[in-house]
Amino acid sequence: MTHIRKAVFPVAGMGTRFLPATKTIPKEMLTLVDRPLIQYAIDEARDAGIEEFIFVSAAGKGALEDYFDTASALESRLTAAGKTDALASLERTRMAEGSLCILRQAQPRGLGHAVRQAKHLIANEPFAVLLPDDVIKGKKGALAQMVQAHKNVGGHMVATMDVPLAETSKYGVLDVAQENGRLAHARGMVEKPNPNVAPSTKAVVGRYILDSQIFDRLDNLGPGAGGELQLTDAINADVDRVGVTGFLFEGERFDCGSVQGFVQATTAFALDRADLRDEFASFLDDRALRLRLVA
Ligand code: G1P
Repeated sequence: MTHIRKAVFPVAGMGTRFLPATKTIPKEMLTLVDRPLIQYAIDEARDAGIEEFIFVSAAGKGALEDYFDTASALESRLTAAGKTDALASLERTRMAEGSLCILRQAQPRGLGHAVRQAKHLIANEPFAVLLPDDVIKGKKGALAQMVQAHKNVGGHMVATMDVPLAETSKYGVLDVAQENGRLAHARGMVEKPNPNVAPSTKAVVGRYILDSQIFDRLDNLGPGAGGELQLTDAINADVDRVGVTGFLFEGERFDCGSVQGFVQATTAFALDRADLRDEFASFLDDRALRLRLVA
């Protein structure tokens, strides 16, 4: 079974839900506690064994590119000042030589179109796709769990979780043929179905392992939900040829593409930090108490 070495990160989105912040800051640079969203996705990918990182970016994302560059002046100053902890914190922003490739998606034509930009860099091997808006918190990284499961299953694999029926129109949704432990074998996949036509409540979360045959489908894709070229439609076209499996990962997923999800993630990650936990928890308790007293 081929090792999954490459991952595509679609980072071209405008992040309009976070305006005005995203007027000048790429949404992937919005910070959960002290790390930008993109760092969580990179850490998860590294943890799963990814060695090559492909960003599908767009105009106005300079800060995202600079973030993974060497900051020589800053590093010299920190070294001179003996700030070893601060220096060490930069370690995870370093990319091995030649391991980061940044492509431009010239027009926002949808997730399928974004992934298609990476065709020549992926060539002929299975690869991962991570949507940085979806932050997954857990003991073991969601992608690492999928890579392990994929060894036995092959084909296309998507992360999935159960959502309330009323929310199916926010997600790609699996038509499940058979469930077996954490695996949900699919006979189809639909992008953003209304609850009355949703084939299940198993929603796709932004982690994928795709066979490179997906690129034939992406090349021939017509507009789907919202008029966009949808990755979901390309995967759906491959259910018989390649096989599609949903993987019910272990972990808590936050929709950091929404302000509510982002604030919840910030709170969850802050409460996880030994150096912040106690004081922050009593602050939250106090706030909750005040809310209850007013109500
Ligand atoms: C994308 C995918 C969708 C998936 C979702 C997960 O939608 O198209 O299938 O369920 O990510 O976050 P978006 O949220 O970009 O509209």
